[in-house]
Amino acid sequence: SITHVILTGGVGSRLWPLSRKSKPKQYLDIFDGKSLFEMTVDRNRNIADKVMVVGNIDNCHLSKNVLEKSDTAYIDIIESTPRNTAAAIAFAAFASNDDDILIVTPSDHIIGQMQLYEDAIQEAIEKASKGFIVTFGIVPTKPETGYGYIERKGDNVVSFREKPNQVSARDFIAKGNFLWNSGMFCFKASVFLEELKVYAPEVYETSKLAWENHKDGNLDLELSLNIPSISVDYAIMERSKKIKVVSSHFEWSDLGSFESVYDYLISIGHPVDENGNMVIGTNNYTAFIGIKDTIFVHTDTANLILKKEFSQDVKSVYNALERDQ
Ligand code: GDD
Ligand code: MG
Repeated sequence: SITHVILTGGVGSRLWPLSRKSKPKQYLDIFDGKSLFEMTVDRNRNIADKVMVVGNIDNCHLSKNVLEKSDTAYIDIIESTPRNTAAAIAFAAFASNDDDILIVTPSDHIIGQMQLYEDAIQEAIEKASKGFIVTFGIVPTKPETGYGYIERKGDNVVSFREKPNQVSARDFIAKGNFLWNSGMFCFKASVFLEELKVYAPEVYETSKLAWENHKDGNLDLELSLNIPSISVDYAIMERSKKIKVVSSHFEWSDLGSFESVYDYLISIGHPVDENGNMVIGTNNYTAFIGIKDTIFVHTDTANLILKKEFSQDVKSVYNALERDQ
């Protein structure tokens, strides 16, 4: 059977103050009146026969609302604390049968050209059935530093580079055989767990123990705190020899930082002034004087004024403010 695993336990700290612990970016209705989470569910509805949600105790009611509204049956895995994507995916694999094919997707993407998306998924399922871990690569359009890069030769992965600096990103684009890592994966549950056991044994052991002690899908806090917080990209994608890449041609964007939100909003006609300044979150007339490429973000309780090229740094404000709340 084919299971769509939705990762939705991240906090989206680079989109603060729009994104909060109580309402991360994937649940905001700012894009077309639908949330990114809702779009993620809809997009995979006809592809998989099961839905599994790996989310967080602080906001799992938000995914529940969406899924119940659309009458979607699902398996709920609820983390008491985020332990990053390697563990989140491990829980989904532990909750599955060995031969189940998992299509793992983040919940913060905008994707277009559905036929191409479905073609890529079918190609991935075929490779996953043969025992490979498949990652979906996107042809890059600029030296973005907020993504991971896949160096490839055909459908083989030569190397995997998570979030490079500007210099390396430029170099990757110039070389031509690098794709963006979309953060979507497809594999047999058993294959993922075997690789995790080899390349990140501590994550494997601690997440297994946490999973074995879950109560109705709820994971214990104490046991979870023992799990190393490491992303699947570092834990497996950079290390495993069983990775294949499906080079994908659908429109794709991770609305992970204000820079990508800015580009997306422009593409759907949101205004910017003649100096590239943009206002998000208020209809108040806002004047920008002597500054360019600046984003002003307004919410009821916090404002952010950001030079667009510093978009990756918003995380530090979030970490300072919301970490211990
Ligand atoms: N359940 C759970 N638990 N989900 C999590 C956790 C966690 O601890 N941490 C993150 N997630 C979810 C997020 O909600 C999101 O849907 C997805 O996992 C990816 O996490 P992000 O925090 O958005 O990662 P990223 O955007 O910085 O980087 C990843 O995605 C990029 C493309 O979107 C990497 O895979 C990059 O290599 C990739 O380019
Ligand atoms: Mg992301």
